[in-house]
Amino acid sequence: MNPETAAGVFTAARSEFAAWSGRLWRPLGEILTSVARPRPRERVLDACCGTGASAIPAARAVGPDGAVDAIDVAEGLLDEGRREAAALGLGNLRFAAADVLTWPHDGYDVVQSSFGVFFFPDMDAGSRRLAGLLKPGGRFAVSTWRGDGMSRIVPIGRAAALPDRPELEDAPPRPNHSARVDTAGKLADWLSWIGLRDVEVREVAYVQPLHLEDAWTFYLGSSMRGFVGGLSADALDRVRARFFDGLREAGLDTLDAGALIGVGRRP
Ligand SMILES: C[S@@+](CC[C@H](N)C(=O)[O-])C[C@H]1O[C@@H](n2cnc3c(N)ncnc32)[C@H](O)[C@@H]1O
Repeated sequence: MNPETAAGVFTAARSEFAAWSGRLWRPLGEILTSVARPRPRERVLDACCGTGASAIPAARAVGPDGAVDAIDVAEGLLDEGRREAAALGLGNLRFAAADVLTWPHDGYDVVQSSFGVFFFPDMDAGSRRLAGLLKPGGRFAVSTWRGDGMSRIVPIGRAAALPDRPELEDAPPRPNHSARVDTAGKLADWLSWIGLRDVEVREVAYVQPLHLEDAWTFYLGSSMRGFVGGLSADALDRVRARFFDGLREAGLDTLDAGALIGVGRRP
């Protein structure tokens, strides 16, 4: 997804994205940070930070003498993160609205990205660039979806939108970066291939009950929102009804948000 599209989709998605924070983004962001292990006084870049799911725990971990730069293109999500950081008194956490692929600062101890790298138009080049912002020996940590989870719900969401957005059919196929890093082995190989050393991958089982209304909130609060941008209220109702039918037909009453957390060092 190009950065301008991501900015539009995720800013539009802000309230539904926030509705899933407590059940999804925050816990998994905490887990990513627990694997990246920022230490007191370290400098961290949190790439594609959203509302700060992993940036906030990182800011707590590095303490007042450390610093976290939390970057996202979707200004709408950053406001939420800024509010929370202020309430927690985290003066060491700076949120900035920017395409992280052009972020000009470097010398970080940790670069981390929670469910972000597969949005880059070129996941390999983008991630290599981010890893290049580390000091030698610094840690690069990313989380991705385990194959059996999101790969079920997203096609149902797309199929539900198609009758009202036939142009989705003609859109040039987007590279499915997620599928390249959706098993522990693939993620480990990819991290090594982009040039990291001492690579480790942890698997996190994470399943949530999925009531239909919650599933629709998830649709509107995730990248699936891009399928329905600009539709009228009537058209949205039709997509919602077809999405519910699709979930029922597939017997999908849980959201399998199983994740992989990979970490490696810049040589
Ligand atoms: C699935 S969300 C994850 C947000 C957050 N890391 C979390 O776990 O809650 C992906 C985020 O990547 C951001 N994003 C995608 N491409 C980006 C880019 N080139 N620069 C900065 N942010 C980007 C989107 O705006 C979105 O907020």
